[in-house]
Amino acid sequence: MTTLAVEIDNVTKTYDELIAVQNVSLQVPRGSTLGLIGPNGAGKTTLLRIVSTLARPDIGDVRIEGKSVREDPRGVRRHLGFMPAEFGCPRNVTIEEYLDYFGCMYGLTPDDRRQRMRDVCELTDLSGREHVYVKGLSTGNRQRLLLAKTLLHDPSVLILDEPASGLDPRARNELRAIIKTLASLGKAIIISSHILPDIEDISDRIGILEAGQLVLQGDLTTLRAQSGTARRTIRLRVPADDTERAAEAIRSLNGVASCDIRDQNIVITSDEPNSNYLLAALLEHDIRVVQFSENETNLEEIFMRSTAGKVT
Ligand SMILES: Nc1ncnc2c1ncn2[C@@H]1O[C@H](COP(=O)(O)OP(=O)(O)OP(=O)(O)O)[C@@H](O)[C@H]1O
Ligand SMILES: [Mg+2]
Repeated sequence: MTTLAVEIDNVTKTYDELIAVQNVSLQVPRGSTLGLIGPNGAGKTTLLRIVSTLARPDIGDVRIEGKSVREDPRGVRRHLGFMPAEFGCPRNVTIEEYLDYFGCMYGLTPDDRRQRMRDVCELTDLSGREHVYVKGLSTGNRQRLLLAKTLLHDPSVLILDEPASGLDPRARNELRAIIKTLASLGKAIIISSHILPDIEDISDRIGILEAGQLVLQGDLTTLRAQSGTARRTIRLRVPADDTERAAEAIRSLNGVASCDIRDQNIVITSDEPNSNYLLAALLEHDIRVVQFSENETNLEEIFMRSTAGKVT
């Protein structure tokens, strides 16, 4: 059996003249999270709607747990939970009534509904609030409720379109923790967001869309390499008497692009994916490291470098 829960295969979708999604292929293994980022209008929501059987691809196909969105959309929906970016919530109902209603829609028996409601409330930290009215919920708790509803039928694949938009930093933090827990339970997750530090934190792999096309995909290391931003800057300090000797040793190493002494600091640019080789070389020369810091390119820089602001 394949470990892939989601296989997006060469999907294209047009609206009249506009190509909203063009030739996109992506895979998500079980227990892993794919972050989807891109400028406004890049095609993220369109792609997520296709994966969720709410829009049909013109070309290509998507398989969820082996089932095709074209041939077996009902089969796909059994495995899939979709949390849209904008979703109206009835206000004059309690959390319990709201979840029970959707449990009925999913065809769960009363016993199953009670059990699942307990499970999803626990997962989303809503336990104890079942009798609170939806209209009294904060934005953060409303997003948790939508997520709880999305989890009711225990889908193995979760599609989350901008779930953190409008959340304050604490609520975002809590949402990130919930998403990580869901991935650790074996769910395959696709999440779109404009909050790049969140995506950087929770995603195993990231896809960058622009004007309907996938411009980059892979883990952060791959993205750094593909976007030409793999170089790291390392600053280290050694005892003053050893500074010259340390810089000389470092300059002779493969992978070091530059090495300068600035205000007693040794500033190195390195093309290696980690800096252990620098520390090992200093150890070999019996030089103690007093201070060490390094900067890696973050997702925002990769995003700015790899997208040009093109819109469809
Ligand atoms: N139903 C539709 N009919 C016509 N055009 C559409 C439709 N849905 C989306 N589009 C267009 O397709 C393109 C992609 O839109 P989409 O909503 O997928 O982008 P997005 O990446 O989700 O953007 P955002 O970051 O703003 O949410 C846009 O140009 C949009 O106007
Ligand atoms: Mg969108």
